[in-house]
Amino acid sequence: MTFPATFLWGAATAPHQVEGNNLNSDWWLSEQLVPGLERSGDAVDGYHRYPEDMRLLAEAGLNTYRFGVEWARVEPDPGHFSRASLAHYRRMIDTALALELKPVVTLHHFTGPRWFAERGGWMADDAIDRFAGYVREVTGILDGVEWVCTINEPNMLAVMVAMSRAAQAGDVEKWTTPTIEGETRPVLPEPGLEIGRRLAEAHHAAREIVKKHIGAAVGWTVANQALTPTPGNEAKLREVRYLREDLYLEAARGDDFIGVQSYTSQPVDENGVVPHPPSPDNTQTGFAYRPDALGIAVRHTWEATGGVPILVTENGIATADDSRRIAYTSEALRGLSQAMDDGIDVRGYLHWSALDNFEWGSWEPTFGLIAVDRETFERHPKPSLSWLGHVARHGRL
Ligand code: BGC
Repeated sequence: MTFPATFLWGAATAPHQVEGNNLNSDWWLSEQLVPGLERSGDAVDGYHRYPEDMRLLAEAGLNTYRFGVEWARVEPDPGHFSRASLAHYRRMIDTALALELKPVVTLHHFTGPRWFAERGGWMADDAIDRFAGYVREVTGILDGVEWVCTINEPNMLAVMVAMSRAAQAGDVEKWTTPTIEGETRPVLPEPGLEIGRRLAEAHHAAREIVKKHIGAAVGWTVANQALTPTPGNEAKLREVRYLREDLYLEAARGDDFIGVQSYTSQPVDENGVVPHPPSPDNTQTGFAYRPDALGIAVRHTWEATGGVPILVTENGIATADDSRRIAYTSEALRGLSQAMDDGIDVRGYLHWSALDNFEWGSWEPTFGLIAVDRETFERHPKPSLSWLGHVARHGRL
């Protein structure tokens, strides 16, 4: 398998999952409110240690790093922007560029300022204006950035919005770690239509602002469940998939790229999405081991967006066994390469995640190419990092 010379090879993180002490964010608040959730705390101190993290990725052979800007730090109070926080993210961009890592910058990755949530969050009347105000400020530091993701997994965010509303109203039972499936929550709940449309509106507003000021490619990144029909259930699949994915993929028509984020695949039967059957092969997040999901996700995304160029912005596996990570990723890349051979325009592959990090209420799942000692914050690159770097340097597997 060979990949184009211009292919982006990288790894991804999100601010809340690595930075630490994101005190002003809605997620920090939820971590205090919901008894079952572990806290992000210092996370992996990525806020201070990003130069080392980027250096490890670059030295391994990767040419791209996806990371995010944290709205709660940039705009700690409505309309009050922190110059120091903006300068911090500019330094991150400069550090990446100096290491010859292309920065792929995410503007919103699940977390927002606490004040935004308290004022009604995404469904508030002024939500789009608020988000647009933040995006305008951030655009000012994005010179030289060629790839911008407006909102990460809006379809998953829509689920989180419903959960956090319930938690803040005192119904903490409704909140479980959203990215982990198990006995108590065997399938991802269905996101609502209204919130989906609102997020699409926010994405389009952000896209316009960024494109007006810088020449970056702009898109959003959508969680793909690689849903497949059981015999005779094609219509049910289409129905179920609309609210979960297709609404968001259709909103990407006209974008410069679409981010594909894929971890597993699930069948749909006459009752809807079928829970992952329990198996010793399931990953630490309860997902079926399905490296073929990436190929399915990419093909469906291509079709549903009407041929928007694809950047794989997340793909990976929660496992304590790094050799399984390498096996999973090789297989996923095989599916990706076959999709490319069939004419699908894929611009790059970014692995989730650069580091073992805070998995939205749990520290147990480890997705990283780099392990972190959570007492000392020492980084320990895993064999999968040098393996992926080798694939990247040679453009072949
Ligand atoms: C998210 C990440 C998350 C990953 C693994 C995606 O839902 O964008 O923040 O850590 O999947 O669950």
